[in-house]
Amino acid sequence: MTLFDAVSQTVAALEKRNIRRPRVGVVLGSGLGDFANELAHVDKIPYSELPHMPLARVPGHAGNLCFGQIGAVDVVCLQGRVHLYEGHDVHAVVHGVRTMARLGVRVVLLTNAAGGLDPTWSPGDLMVVTDHLNLMATSPLVGPNDERFGPRFPDMTQAYDRDVRSKLFQVAKQTGLALREGVYAGLLGPSYETPAEIRMLRVLGADAVGMSTVPEVLALRHLGVAVGALSCISNLAAGLSPTPLSHREVEQVARSRRADLIALLSGWVRAVGEP
Ligand code: HPA
Repeated sequence: MTLFDAVSQTVAALEKRNIRRPRVGVVLGSGLGDFANELAHVDKIPYSELPHMPLARVPGHAGNLCFGQIGAVDVVCLQGRVHLYEGHDVHAVVHGVRTMARLGVRVVLLTNAAGGLDPTWSPGDLMVVTDHLNLMATSPLVGPNDERFGPRFPDMTQAYDRDVRSKLFQVAKQTGLALREGVYAGLLGPSYETPAEIRMLRVLGADAVGMSTVPEVLALRHLGVAVGALSCISNLAAGLSPTPLSHREVEQVARSRRADLIALLSGWVRAVGEP
């Protein structure tokens, strides 16, 4: 079966359940899944009930496709994502966002927890991603190209949509939230980086480092979907942090920004989705 057919089957299974057609998509990263509980009229569908949806295997990632509304905007959320380091195939990692696009979503905001590379930043800071470095040594676009998804050589000059970014800043200003912006380096993981790797990443122009987001962005841009990404800086990266890194800390810091993130994501959904 082709990847396109697999996505069609997931979409068909969702259509059978009479989901509302979403216009906006949100992918919820480590410790950030609570936003899905804010949706009105929410319909939560466990990935396990859908064909071809890979299952999340990391604590803090619930594994539900959630349909609902923020204001008048129909939204779909991936509550919990899968990562390359879990051993999933790169195509499986992007199956959820490809499904979103086929459901009609034209704009997606991806969230993640990330390590900060600027020693003047603090855990809990929020960063709008302006661009990325793909250091995962793979791409969901590797393999025969299916033109039904998009072109063989998609352009990545403006991978992170200007309008999506400016709306995040607009909402942050209204909400009284500070936002940073910078370049996200996507690494395979699952070990955190060594201090030498962090020094290398700083030389390369990265501001934050994490283990997700990049494959989804590549797949969504291939499909022509507008993309934004928001990193919760859960820790200073290795060598910059006074304490050893731990997933527990990452989740705790992300959770501590729960209310602000919900306000920001809700405001952003309304800003992009309401006419
Ligand atoms: N490195 C990689 N991924 C991460 C980090 C980090 O420091 N923090 C949260 N995700």
